[in-house]
Amino acid sequence: MANRIISPSLLSANFLELSKDIEMINKSDAEWLHLDVMDGVFVPNISFGIPVIQAVSKQCTKKLDLHLMIVEPDKFIDVFADMGIYMYTVHYEACTHLHRTIQKIKAKGMKAGVALNPHTPISLLQNIINDVDMVLLMSVNPGYGGQKFITETLNKTQELRELIIKRGSNAIIQIDGGVNYETGKQLFDAGADCLVAGSFVFGSNEAETRISNLLKL
Ligand code: DX5
Ligand code: ZN
Repeated sequence: MANRIISPSLLSANFLELSKDIEMINKSDAEWLHLDVMDGVFVPNISFGIPVIQAVSKQCTKKLDLHLMIVEPDKFIDVFADMGIYMYTVHYEACTHLHRTIQKIKAKGMKAGVALNPHTPISLLQNIINDVDMVLLMSVNPGYGGQKFITETLNKTQELRELIIKRGSNAIIQIDGGVNYETGKQLFDAGADCLVAGSFVFGSNEAETRISNLLKL
């Protein structure tokens, strides 16, 4: 079995007791912590930003997996690199010069990810797949936690796996949105490496167990 990763999404945590939730993540089998930044422009919602992530980065011992749902994601490469972000993911739809953005992220010592909205085809990645460290496929429309999984993502995951193999890319496949035991199993079977899980983890009183179980599907 390939190395599987669970990246719980902080968006569904209890913001009044963030410290407790980060302690839980630190103790859990999750390798990464997923951080959803929304600007109210690229997506119809606003989440949290730099000061909150700075504080989280001081307590969290896991790799920080940053998902920027914002326009002009180039602007924050320096500030997040200084914070020790591990994976810096930008949206394909938000980058006019994606190749340049990817090179800038890597030059700052971070891994570079590119995210696709549900309607954006895999074929658009053909000429960038060897430059990226991760592809994030949105399995819901970005902006909110707790939405229903879009099943077409399973076909996209398979198609992306085929592209990665064909091109000899080292990119890993992350899926974000509507992940639970059922969709998680289907996604791992379709070729996913890393699953983001928000409400399924934080919305339960057995968060740590759910993280461990997702790894074993
Ligand atoms: C949605 C975010 C997701 C979200 C997933 O725009 O990118 O990371 O937190 O939440 P669930 O797992 O509840 O669908
Ligand atoms: Zn996300």
